[in-house]
Amino acid sequence: MANVVVVGAQWGDEGKGKIVDWLSERADVIARFQGGHNAGHTLVIDGTTYKLHALPSGVVRADKLSVIGNGVVLDPWHLVKEIETIRGQGVKITPENLMIAENTPLILPFHGELDRAREGQTTVARIGTTGRGIGPAYEDKVGRRAIRVADLADDATLEARIDRALVHHNALRSGLGMEPIDRTALLAELREIAPQILRYAAPVWRVLAEKRRAGKRILFEGAQGALLDIDFGTYPFVTSSNVLAGQAATGVGIGPGAIDFVLGIVKAYTTRVGEGPFPTELHDDDGQRLGERGHEFGTTTGRQRRCGWFDAVLVRQTCTTSGVSGIALTKLDVLDGFEELKICVGYELDGQRLDYLPTAADQQARVTPIYETMQGWSESTAGARSWAELPAEAIKYVRRIEELIDCPVALLSTSPAREDTILVTDPFAD
Ligand code: IMP
Repeated sequence: MANVVVVGAQWGDEGKGKIVDWLSERADVIARFQGGHNAGHTLVIDGTTYKLHALPSGVVRADKLSVIGNGVVLDPWHLVKEIETIRGQGVKITPENLMIAENTPLILPFHGELDRAREGQTTVARIGTTGRGIGPAYEDKVGRRAIRVADLADDATLEARIDRALVHHNALRSGLGMEPIDRTALLAELREIAPQILRYAAPVWRVLAEKRRAGKRILFEGAQGALLDIDFGTYPFVTSSNVLAGQAATGVGIGPGAIDFVLGIVKAYTTRVGEGPFPTELHDDDGQRLGERGHEFGTTTGRQRRCGWFDAVLVRQTCTTSGVSGIALTKLDVLDGFEELKICVGYELDGQRLDYLPTAADQQARVTPIYETMQGWSESTAGARSWAELPAEAIKYVRRIEELIDCPVALLSTSPAREDTILVTDPFAD
């Protein structure tokens, strides 16, 4: 049976929610493998809107197993609230349909405090984080001082883990002029929340191995986008996890051979939230129009997203680093009515032409895009369900993107509604 990984191929917010939901109907298991509640996935099902942050998108479908893998960082208080909110919308969430890997590191209140304190410093450039403690929690994981889900089950272990973390964090907080952490209060809060998390704890790697043996289909749900990857993104203006498709394997505990299809989600133009380089960013009416028509405001922080033309150089690069088999192109309808459209086909740097984004930060900031201009279309593409319903210029635009990024379109999404999707290749086909 085919297993599919869905990843963002730009800076996140490519419209993964709809595509993941569309695919999750056909999957048996939906697994998150990185990131945390910095993500925001919006699902619209039968007229009801669900806003998910930490929960996998499969959770709104009662007959699917949703899994939070060890590659995720988990804020237990946020998760409990999110579960309550989604339950309040009539969704059933039980240990039968939600499992959390026992080795998942926790985001604790002091992680968020540190994240926000760092972002408030005036002497260094801000990253523009979501302020949810993602970076500090991943630092503690790699620094071997994280508190993990399984630690909540044993009080002596929990205390020892807290002490290890506090030695580090109190020294850091003192340097930043922050109060030391209240150990007693933190332990009390953790003891109180522990049973609400432990009821979902499971050896996820084992459960997934059994599911695979039973021929079940697994959908791996990525968060953020490849250009925010800790290794291959626009460092340091990135998130703190590996976002690329390869992370799906270690983020839940399966072998890389279990992945049959990588679907890259690509928006028909480009957006970014937070700071950092963005070669095709527009500061003019066209940029404003993209933002307004595309409703480009963050689901998690409500921040206005920066907007720009489609950058084929970047997407070709991210399709390579994630091994994308096919893309889902989203929000084509936002381009309806533009007289002309531009696509970035290369960069110029110091008189040289480049066909990739260089790694050095100063060069990333200095590249200027080389554009190809295409004719726009005046007709509406919103809601199209077949190629025949698309204007010729829109088809040309999509075909040109395929050529430039060297990757085929598997799905074309023409509105937020799940039915408004043109299927070219079924990622789950055996
Ligand atoms: P962090 O993940 O909160 O540490 O934020 C680091 C960078 O990633 C910032 O530029 C955020 O705006 C960006 N980011 C984090 N999560 C998302 C997301 O789900 N969509 C888009 N950008 C994100």
